[in-house]
Amino acid sequence: MKTIVSGIQPTGSLNIGTYLGSIKNFVKLQKIYSDYHFYLFIADLHALTTPMDAKKLRQKIKELAALYLACGLERENLSLFVQSELPAHSQMGYLLQCHAYMGELERMTQYKDKAQKQTDGIRSSLFTYPALMAADILLYDAEYVPVGDDQKQHLELTRTLAERINHRYGDVFKVPKPLIPKVASRIMSLTDPTKKMSKSDENVKSRINLLDDENIIRKRIKSAVTDSDQTVRYDREEKPGLSNLFDIRIAITDESVKEIEDAYEGKGYKEFKEDLGDIVVEELLPIQKRYRELIDSGELDKILDEGKKRAEQVANKKVEKLNRILGLGRKRK
Ligand code: AMP
Ligand code: TRP
Repeated sequence: MKTIVSGIQPTGSLNIGTYLGSIKNFVKLQKIYSDYHFYLFIADLHALTTPMDAKKLRQKIKELAALYLACGLERENLSLFVQSELPAHSQMGYLLQCHAYMGELERMTQYKDKAQKQTDGIRSSLFTYPALMAADILLYDAEYVPVGDDQKQHLELTRTLAERINHRYGDVFKVPKPLIPKVASRIMSLTDPTKKMSKSDENVKSRINLLDDENIIRKRIKSAVTDSDQTVRYDREEKPGLSNLFDIRIAITDESVKEIEDAYEGKGYKEFKEDLGDIVVEELLPIQKRYRELIDSGELDKILDEGKKRAEQVANKKVEKLNRILGLGRKRK
C-alpha cells in the first residue's frame, strides 16, 4: 500500500501557520488519497535538539496528538503515534547519519538559523537532525511527504540519502516527494510579515494559537500589521501584511483572490479584518471543542497505541533489512 508520512514537533504553541500549512493539508490529502495509508507522528525526539523541559514535553506530546485528531483526521487509514516510542526511528537515524556528509548537513539553512539562536551551546543533534528526519520518512517508504516550505531542503536531503543508499546497495528505499501546499505554505507573522509565523516567537501577538479563545483571535487579527493604504488588494510585495491575511482566508475558505477583492471593493481593512476574525473563529471553535473532549479521554491513548503497533511492524522490518545489508550483527539462519 502506498504511504504518506509527516510529523510535527511538540514544541511551542501550535498555531494557524502549522495548522494551515500542514495539518489542514493533511486532512485534505486524506480525502484525495483515500487508498493510501497515512503515518503521522509527534516528533518528540526532534524536540530534544534544543533545550526542553521534560514535564512540558510530556504535556505537549499529548496536547499535539489530541489537536491533530481534533482537526478532523480520518482514523481509518491513519497510524498516529509518538516517534520516541519506536526505537526504529533512532536506529535508522544513526544508519542514515552514516551515509550523510558533513558538508550536506552544514548547508541546511534551518540548522544555521537555529544554531544562531542557541545561547547555551549548540547540541550536536541539531546538526544531525535532518538524518533523523530522513529516517522518519524512509522507514515507511513514503510516496509523499506533506510539509511547509521550510522543510523543502530537508526533503531534498532525504531524497539524496535514499538515492545514495539505493545506488550502493540496490533498492532499499522509496524516494519520497514533498507535497507543499500552494496556499499557506508560508503563513507569516502577524506583527512582522517578513518573518514566518512561528510557534517559538516570543511575541504572542505574532500568531494565533489553535487553542486561543475567541476574543484573542479577533484581537490578533485586528492588530495584525498592514500598510496604510486601504484598498483590499493582494500584493505580496507592496502589501505583505494584508496578503498574508488573504492567504489565511483562502486556506480556510478556498475562495479566489479575485472573489475576495471584488467583495471588498469600496470597503476598507477594518471590515476585511472583522470578517476574517469570524472566519477563523468559526474554523477553530469546533476544533477546540473536539480537543477538550479528547485530551483526557482513554480514547486518545488507545489510538496512539494502535498507531504505534502498526507503524512498528513496518519500521522494524526496514531497520532489520538495512542492518543486514550493511553487515551489522551476526548472520541468523
Ligand atoms: P513545526 O511546527 O515547525 O514542527 O512544523 C510543522 C509543519 O508545519 C511543517 O510541515 C512546517 O513546514 C509547517 N509550518 C510551520 N510553520 C508554518 C507557517 N508559518 N506556515 C506554513 N507552514 C508552517
Ligand atoms: N522537521 C519537521 C519540522 O520541524 C518535523 C518532522 C520531523 C517531519 N520528521 C518529519 C516532517 C518527517 C515530515 C516528515 O517541521
